[in-house]
Amino acid sequence: MSQAPAKAIFLKDYLPPAFTTKETFLDFELLPEHTIVRSRLLVERNPKCGVPSNLFLLDGNELELLEVRVDGQPLGESEYQQTATSLSLEIDKDQFVFECTTRIYPDRNTALEGLYISGGMYCTQCEAEGFRRITFFQDRPDVLSVFTTKITADLDKYPTALSNGNLVTRTEENGKVIAEWHDPFPKPSYLFALVAGDLICQEDRFTTQSGRNVTLQIFVEQGNEHKCDHALASLKRSMTWDEEVYGREYDLDLFMIVAVDHFNMGAMENKGLNIFNSSCVLATPETATDDAFARIEGIVGHEYFHNWSGNRVTCRDWFQLSLKEGFTVFRDAEFSSDMGSRAVKRLEDVSFLRQHQFPEDAGPMAHAVRPASYMEISNFYTVTIYEKGSEVVGMLRTILGADLFRKGSDLYFDTFDGQAATTDDFVWAMEQVSGKDLTQFKRWYSQAGTPRLSVRRAFDAASQTLTLTAAQHTPETADGSKKEPFVIPVALGLVAQNGNALAIESEDKRFNAAQAVWLVEEAEQTLVINGIAELPAVSLLRDFSAPVLLEDDLTDQERILLIGNDPNGYNRWEQCQIIYKKLILQKVDAEFDEALLKALKQSLRQLLQDDAVENAVKAELLSLPAESEFLQLVPNIDILSVEAAREALRLWIATELFADFEQMFGSLESYSDYAFEPEQVGVRKLKNTLLEYLLLANLEQYQGIALAQFEQASNMTDQLSAFKYIVQYGDEAAANKVISVFLSQWADDVQVLEQWFRVQVSRSDENTLSRVKTLLDHELFEYQNPNKIRAVIGAFAMTNVKSFHAADGKGYEFLAEQVAKIDQMNPQIAARLVGPLTKWKSYDLSRGQKMKAQLDLLATKVLSKDLYEVVSKSLG
Ligand code: ARG
Ligand code: ZN
Repeated sequence: MSQAPAKAIFLKDYLPPAFTTKETFLDFELLPEHTIVRSRLLVERNPKCGVPSNLFLLDGNELELLEVRVDGQPLGESEYQQTATSLSLEIDKDQFVFECTTRIYPDRNTALEGLYISGGMYCTQCEAEGFRRITFFQDRPDVLSVFTTKITADLDKYPTALSNGNLVTRTEENGKVIAEWHDPFPKPSYLFALVAGDLICQEDRFTTQSGRNVTLQIFVEQGNEHKCDHALASLKRSMTWDEEVYGREYDLDLFMIVAVDHFNMGAMENKGLNIFNSSCVLATPETATDDAFARIEGIVGHEYFHNWSGNRVTCRDWFQLSLKEGFTVFRDAEFSSDMGSRAVKRLEDVSFLRQHQFPEDAGPMAHAVRPASYMEISNFYTVTIYEKGSEVVGMLRTILGADLFRKGSDLYFDTFDGQAATTDDFVWAMEQVSGKDLTQFKRWYSQAGTPRLSVRRAFDAASQTLTLTAAQHTPETADGSKKEPFVIPVALGLVAQNGNALAIESEDKRFNAAQAVWLVEEAEQTLVINGIAELPAVSLLRDFSAPVLLEDDLTDQERILLIGNDPNGYNRWEQCQIIYKKLILQKVDAEFDEALLKALKQSLRQLLQDDAVENAVKAELLSLPAESEFLQLVPNIDILSVEAAREALRLWIATELFADFEQMFGSLESYSDYAFEPEQVGVRKLKNTLLEYLLLANLEQYQGIALAQFEQASNMTDQLSAFKYIVQYGDEAAANKVISVFLSQWADDVQVLEQWFRVQVSRSDENTLSRVKTLLDHELFEYQNPNKIRAVIGAFAMTNVKSFHAADGKGYEFLAEQVAKIDQMNPQIAARLVGPLTKWKSYDLSRGQKMKAQLDLLATKVLSKDLYEVVSKSLG
């Protein structure tokens, strides 16, 4: 590659700094052409640094340095060292005041890291290493400082000037606003935030368990003030939930959320001043789907929960990122489960993990939950750190039980409050409260890879025992390292051939219950279960108790038995998924097994008629596994043959169950008053799933019904479903019609427009690619807005399997061109967007080579550090 290779940073090289910044005073002058930042830092020797050193090292990136002072004395250029990414000095003092002045250019900042402008307002994104684009600083999470921030800006354009903590003073003079903020909690620089704009505030209050009155504020651009209710309600629910479930209270008098349109990720937990991608906060029933409502509730919760898991206890270094992210995802998933349908949340999370994290673990960017090295930390905000990290926390809770887990989390928060901690510290707390040795368990943090677990049954009628033999093996991952056995908690139950659940009584008397958790710790291990009269079906890995690929010896009949009778709802869905996968693979090679199809149809009909099964679960039972899950099952399988087989199975279900679907579709309620509550959400989800099947089976009859739904819907859930189905399956005239009607209805709504872009790239026909390219030229498309890039280019590559993977390789060529272009503006987004190409080794040889050729081409260009890391690792 035509540039100096970026350097890797290793966990094993971690050293505490010689000095630490105890207090930070920042003064921002927001001027039209640039911004002047003056900082005054109270610096002390760091008691945690074991080696004698006088090095004071500050990070900086794209800063114009105007002045440096130590203890009031200006320094000459020979008195400090400056490189492209740092400023350092040798200083033999125990305490000193460091001051510097920098000039930055927020309006030229297209990377959206540090201080930038979005839609006319100033905002910041400092995690992970954005603060160094604002001023020279010890921009590392183990330096915790108390921040005081002064903002001076034009009063007309930026009357709202916000930063972390509490407002100390706000004055208006000579056409300027001057606001001073103070945050009493020491925090790392990645949690710093500043916002300045002309914003409208929606306000509410919350009283904490101990009686603290907290003001809640959501700041939005004019015109969006009616879209805040759901986020405010979600915030209050989050605050109550964290008090009840984790005993954690909010700690400031003010909690603010700001919505911005240009944002690289979902949202950011800056202390007291969360900044959100507007699509993750703004919603009304008319503009946002049930899924969007759920996502907003989850993200508002996630960022709020970070106040403890992330802010009060933060990370020592970025290798510990999952300490806050994995734990916080676990917390927000529990919150969402408690607010909505627990069963559905789990199924969705497992599907997501298998569709995204398992392929990551099998690909060139595979890394452990606590990685050993990185080049660019922004590339490590991954499904492994977040979602697998959450699974690891979940396994700890399964192993300890809910009560000890809560004791462990209390001990963790109390012990490390106000400190920067490690994943080892978290596990230490769990060991302390349980008395368990979790040394081997910690391999989940240090080893990458998805374990393959096989479980076989042996029944002995004479002794009435069932012996389960488990074997685990984890294939090598990208770094070539050999894997040691993991501790795999296997939640299991038994179901007799007559459908009754059996108690599990193990030989060693450890278990005697309807469900047991079997810890598989060895490469091979057995479990003997007593008192078994005949061979039962075994229901394994209930609720997906570990992130593994399971292989068992159940027959098709036994799976059908479990679909109907397993007391564990998750496993009923899982067995259904396994049968779908089996049928699809049969069709890839030859034909469906007719007997299995018949048995499946019978089961599905029963489930659909069963009032005890939630409507939303019924919808999930009718959803087939995504194509990407098949690459884990059959390496190098032709993805388009999977897609065709999957479509054939969908059509078969649509045709065979047509009468049932029709009857159900007609009988489900239509709510005139929208509410985001589980009952309504379930009905809408099932109804729209049925509509899709009905369209597949009989377009002629149902296109009109879908059109009517599109025109008459009073909520976005129903309107968007109808829109999507007509665009995907409808005839061209109908598709074009709804595309233009939808645009004229929603052209002024940024959030809905994203959906307008997204839906159009999902239609697969001979014109798909040219349509996608046309959208990039549309007046409402902007390369500067990551949401629009994701909605058009990202959605094309991730969701339009047929067109992206078209045999001519044009989809790959298009993606690579776009990645190269976007890398010039926004490296983080480019490095994410290239993801689909990096999995080239999983595809068939011909596709794989075409994907790789595009990576080779990218590698000849000058790339950002972000994109360089991903491209070089996927070619290496
Ligand atoms: N801590 C944020 C969250 O998960 C993610 C922000 C990461 N941003 C980034 N540019 N890498 O809630
Ligand atoms: Zn987070």
